[in-house]
Amino acid sequence: MIVLGIESSCDETAASVVRNGTEVLSSVIFSQVSLHQPYGGVVPEIASRSHIEKISGVVREAIIRAFSTDPDVELADLKVIPPAYWAQIDAIAGTYGPGLASSLIVGWSAAKGIAVASGKPLIAINHLQAHLHSVRLGNDYDEATLYPQLGVCVSGGHTSIIDCQAPNEYTLIGQTMDDAAGEALDKAAKLLGLGYPGGPLIDKLSRDIPESERKDIPFPKGRISANHPLAGDLRHELCMSYSGLKTALMLYVKNTPPQSETETAKVCACYQEAVVGALVDRIALALKANLYQSLAVGGGVSLNSRLRVLLERLCAKSNVQLLLAAPANCGDNAAMIAGLASQGGGRKGDTLALDVFPSLEVFIV
Ligand code: KG4
Ligand code: ZN
Repeated sequence: MIVLGIESSCDETAASVVRNGTEVLSSVIFSQVSLHQPYGGVVPEIASRSHIEKISGVVREAIIRAFSTDPDVELADLKVIPPAYWAQIDAIAGTYGPGLASSLIVGWSAAKGIAVASGKPLIAINHLQAHLHSVRLGNDYDEATLYPQLGVCVSGGHTSIIDCQAPNEYTLIGQTMDDAAGEALDKAAKLLGLGYPGGPLIDKLSRDIPESERKDIPFPKGRISANHPLAGDLRHELCMSYSGLKTALMLYVKNTPPQSETETAKVCACYQEAVVGALVDRIALALKANLYQSLAVGGGVSLNSRLRVLLERLCAKSNVQLLLAAPANCGDNAAMIAGLASQGGGRKGDTLALDVFPSLEVFIV
């Protein structure tokens, strides 16, 4: 099955063509980072307007790159997408949530329009489930060796721990009560005057600090109490809070302003250790309690070099197969959307009547 996928839930406009769940025929991503940089965060109206400008070109490029036999094909030479290319696509998939409403609406409407015009089925994809699928792209795993799987989605908007007993079955077991891990890093970088997005900048600066010094500044571990009002049915020991960590950083910097680049790097390394450590502690607990065959970690923060090292150590110790996405598939992309849809995931049926769902939970297909 070949699927054209479209993604526009936040600040990336993306389209991709994927065959049978894992074979990426094309993946085109337009990142809006430079548009939002001056504001230190995503500005929803700028995001949706940019999606509108870029979406048709991005979709067109994804289809041409997927099916053209010429790797150097000049897009400008192909004014019309050849009907033979369209004919090979079996279905159209789009992200319908979660994300920014004004961003989601652009990609989801484009997917609807293409489905109507082409008469092909429309598959609605949950962005968080797609992040978990991203680890499968380009890899030929035997599915029988992957489940039960522990899934972790860690990005600028989400930090969720998910139990997956079988493909396309998702039970949320832990999550952040406030900021996402990526958001905690981005806000810290802003506070330290480093720039946007903060995650990669903090990651880079932290690498210069030796492992033995990364706990010198004692940041809180983000544990929550058993009766936390937002934990609901989740296991509180698998949940975390990052807002206290941010406050602790603010106070630390106020009382002890870093005097040199090395001191700033040290603050970054200790803060990153706390953010990443809180997550890895929860994952370790979840792995201990259950018999998982694999751990799948997706989302922009899964690019973090320290997180990757700690996860490798944990999985080696726990005898669990670690699945991480290729760097190009960690952040928002459409290959994960087309991939999940062409692997049998997503919502089918009367999807043309489906609205975008900004607060969609990970367990809703
Ligand atoms: O998945 P993503 O592209 O978009 C969302 O769905 O949120 O994730 C973006 C987040 C940002 O918070 C960014 O700072 C973070 O991923 N990020 C990183 C790294 N690269 C991106 N965080 C830590 N280390 C990195 N190397
Ligand atoms: Zn995402």
